[in-house]
Order: sequence, then C-alpha cells, then structure tokens
Amino acid sequence: MKDYGEEILRMEDICKVFDLGRGKTLAASDHVNISLHRGETLGVVGESGSGKSTLAKILTRLYTMTSGRILFHGKDIAALKGEELRQARKHIQMVFQDPSTAFNPKQRVKQIICEPLLNYGMIKSSQVEEKAKEMLRLVDLPDDFANRYANNMSGGQRQRIAIARALVLKPEIIVCDEATSALDVSVQKTVIELLRRLQRETNVAYFFICHDLALANMFCDNIVIMQHGRVVETINDLHNGKDPYTKKLLASIFTIEEGKKKVLSDELFA
Ligand SMILES: Nc1ncnc2c1ncn2[C@@H]1O[C@H](COP(=O)(O)OP(=O)(O)OP(=O)(O)O)[C@@H](O)[C@H]1O
Ligand SMILES: [Mg+2]
Repeated sequence: MKDYGEEILRMEDICKVFDLGRGKTLAASDHVNISLHRGETLGVVGESGSGKSTLAKILTRLYTMTSGRILFHGKDIAALKGEELRQARKHIQMVFQDPSTAFNPKQRVKQIICEPLLNYGMIKSSQVEEKAKEMLRLVDLPDDFANRYANNMSGGQRQRIAIARALVLKPEIIVCDEATSALDVSVQKTVIELLRRLQRETNVAYFFICHDLALANMFCDNIVIMQHGRVVETINDLHNGKDPYTKKLLASIFTIEEGKKKVLSDELFA
C-alpha cells in the first residue's frame, strides 16, 4: 500500500440539516467523521443522495454546516471569517463533474487557469501567459491552448484545465466531485493517470467522490462508504467491507474490471 503522510484534515461530527419547509428537515450529513492525510487519496462512495456532494460543499465552504468542526492542521477553519477564511480556502480546491459550467465562456484558458493567482494577488497580469503555459504543460496540454476558449475543447481537455486551475495555488487538498464521471472510459483513464502523477509530484491529497466502485477501489488508498448522510464504514479495499450495505453496493456491480483494476466479484458474498 502507498505510504502517505500525517493527518492534515479532520472533519469532526459534521451535521448538515436542510429545512425542506412545512416542518420537514433532512439530515444530509449526520455526524460524519472523516480524516485525510498528506498525499492520500480518499474515496467517498455511496448511493445517490447519500450526502457525498454535501460533504464536498461543506469542505469547500459552499455550504455552511449545521454543526461540527473542520480541523485543517489542527485549526478549526469552519470558524474562520474574512481574510483568515480567504487564506485558508487557498489550501482546499475543487474540481467538479462538468467544468464547462464553472468556466466563464468569455475568458481565455490562460485567464481561467490564472484567475485564482490574480485574485490572491500572487502574480501580475504580465505573468499570466507564462504561468498558464507552465500549468498547461503540467497537465499535458499544448502551450498554445493558453489563448483559446475552453468551450470549444473536449471534455477531457476541459477537465485538465480544471485540474490546472485547481493546482495553481498549490493546494494541499483537491476535492474531486465526480470529476471523471462524465468522461468516456479511455479519457477517464488518462485523467486518473494525470491525477496520480500530480500527486506523486506535489503530494496533494484527493477527496475523491465517485460512483464507480471499481474505479474508487483501483485509485483510492481508503474509501468512505456513505448511506443516508452517515459513514457506514471506512475501508482500504472494498473487498474488506464488513457492513451489509457495503456488500450490497458491491453486489450491484456486474462488470468485472480489466487491467489494473481490482476484480470485484461474487466470491465476496460466498
Ligand atoms: N440545497 C439543498 N436543499 C435541500 N436539500 C438538499 C440540498 N442539497 C442537497 N440536498 C439533499 O441532501 C441529500 C444529499 O444530497 P447530495 O447532493 O449530497 O447527495 P450525493 O451523495 O452527492 O448524490 P449524487 O450521487 O446523486 O450526486 C439529498 O437528499 C439531497 O436532495
Ligand atoms: Mg453528488
């Protein structure tokens, strides 16, 4: 198993209750505890509506949680405000399923990639082109993409641009919410290989939400299984799942993986 570093993030007792009106509420996150280490890839799997994206949004502060603590290097970042919050946010970036909606169609790729650096005043506009080209090379795209627009690129290319943008602030954590799910299998494979290489080079940790259990098992060091807003169990290999829900999830897989992916088969339930 891969050797990863010290704990950098601890989500403690995270609760998110949505008010659905007429006195109804929904616990989308129900006393969740998750820890993430430097250079670790942590998978988050579970049925639709189990609360995976809610956790991602809490972590990236798109949602405020109802209660709980988010300890980043031991410091509760959920309690931060203003400039301190702005600085803390640098370290946790996000890649979504469909980056096209996250990109401004009027911006060139170089502006999309370097916008976070400009927002933090970390580069001058005269440096944008050079920095964008450096980031494009990092994600295996040609330099001259810097002056193009993202909406006439393929899904895989757009996702590489989203990854370049997420990496530009040198974050410690990248939250990937179904980041490869919209890509076809061969493109998905190259993006996963890219994420792996970038992790080796930068030691970034991934919070990797994914509905493809075989992909999660192949790519992740540990996997959090979620159901109804709760963590059912955290395991390093889906074969080791003990909870009946994990076994049920696995039983729903009927494709056997090729290549490097681990085979998930009925023998588990024998
Ligand atoms: N803003 C919101 N207001 C009310 N309910 C919400 C809101 N966001 C999410 N929910 C509900 O919270 C639950 C968890 O949703 P979430 O998006 O976290 O699920 P998920 O595990 O990411 O599902 P999927 O695999 O389909 O993306 C769902 O029942 C959803 O309807
Ligand atoms: Mg989701």
